[in-house]
Amino acid sequence: MYRSWDQDNNYIYGAAIGLTPLIIIQSCKLLKCPITAPETVYQTQRSMGKMFDKYNLTWILPVDFRFYYMLRLHFCNIIPQYTKRSQVVFKIFVNNKTAVEEANLFYGSRGSGYPVFKDYIVFVNDPYGKRSIQIFLLAVHPNRNSELYLDAYLNGLEVFKLSVDKTC
Ligand SMILES: *[C@@H]1O[C@H](CO)[C@@H](O)[C@H](O)[C@H]1NC(C)=O
Ligand SMILES: *[C@@H]1O[C@H](CO)[C@@H](O)[C@H](O)[C@H]1NC(C)=O
Repeated sequence: MYRSWDQDNNYIYGAAIGLTPLIIIQSCKLLKCPITAPETVYQTQRSMGKMFDKYNLTWILPVDFRFYYMLRLHFCNIIPQYTKRSQVVFKIFVNNKTAVEEANLFYGSRGSGYPVFKDYIVFVNDPYGKRSIQIFLLAVHPNRNSELYLDAYLNGLEVFKLSVDKTC
């Protein structure tokens, strides 16, 4: 697929922007898995930092109403301390609703430094009939059940607008 990738600075909601570590991880880890995003996407990450308790790390996207969108969330932990399963467990919210209560990503991948993605399909409603641009929110927040670290992170986000065949 032909896609372009932007930095997320323009899509961060609010003043709490978290941390953006950049770590060149061993590319061998990536090569063992099918790569669905460029390496740079996996080598950069936005995480919550020390103020994790006070906010949701939130991205805001303009979308068109009455369309389905597929969100593909790319994760690849690059924070060296996070090495084991269940050490970092976090919540994922899509449009203020809980999409995942306990994202424990090392279960979906081979561990820290290995890429994994999650897909969600959402319908963007036009609840007030205004036919205006709708705003879409994606947020992450630590889950208290995390065994060692309270944090949450995201490496990349893809948004696919799905066409609606109105004749069906
Ligand atoms: C995070 O977002 C969820 C869903 O919108 C909300 O219930 C919760 O209060 C938010 N937490 C913080 C700390 O803002
Ligand atoms: C969703 O959350 C955002 C950010 O916390 C808030 O500004 C907005 O009012 C919420 N929207 C709804 C429909 O709850």
